[in-house]
Amino acid sequence: MSFSDAEKAAIVSMIGKVAANPGGYGSEALERLFLGFPQTKTYFNHIDVSHGSADVRTHGGKVLGALVEAAKHLDDMEGTLSQLSDLHAYNLMVDPGNFKLLSHCILVVLACHFPAEFDACTHAAFDKYLAVVSAILTSKYR
Ligand code: HEM
Repeated sequence: MSFSDAEKAAIVSMIGKVAANPGGYGSEALERLFLGFPQTKTYFNHIDVSHGSADVRTHGGKVLGALVEAAKHLDDMEGTLSQLSDLHAYNLMVDPGNFKLLSHCILVVLACHFPAEFDACTHAAFDKYLAVVSAILTSKYR
């Protein structure tokens, strides 16, 4: 799936804000995920998922850091996300339905922090971006 120039501009602009604090926004998104959809915690038995946990901040930083990185390659997201796609499909085997839940939580966090920038066009573009990332990360399931 490709992005229009307007979508690319909106994604790059929003991701620039995420890049300033991936651990902060990432941990908020994960905390929302664990609170709103507690079944998702089953994938994280090996880390401390309590409120304010350093583990959650570290993992949140990795997840949003991967989004920051992938946004630098909007014309080759498959290549950029290939290793993560292998990891989620072959090692972690995360149920694909969970990607919609996490994407929703990421959108909510961004909307809360950047209400002025998060207009309808940016919302739609970032939603599409997360859907493309999710499609790639779940593309190798067998
Ligand atoms: C690991 C990104 C969705 C569960 C990771 C890592 C990244 C990442 C960057 C670390 C890889 C490494 O350390 O080499 C993403 C992105 C997602 C996504 C960008 C979608 C936007 C999900 C979902 C779940 C999940 C929906 C489950 C609810 C995990 C688990 C690990 C992991 C369990 C391993 C954690 C660990 O052992 O440290 N993911 N992920 N991921 N992800 Fe995802």
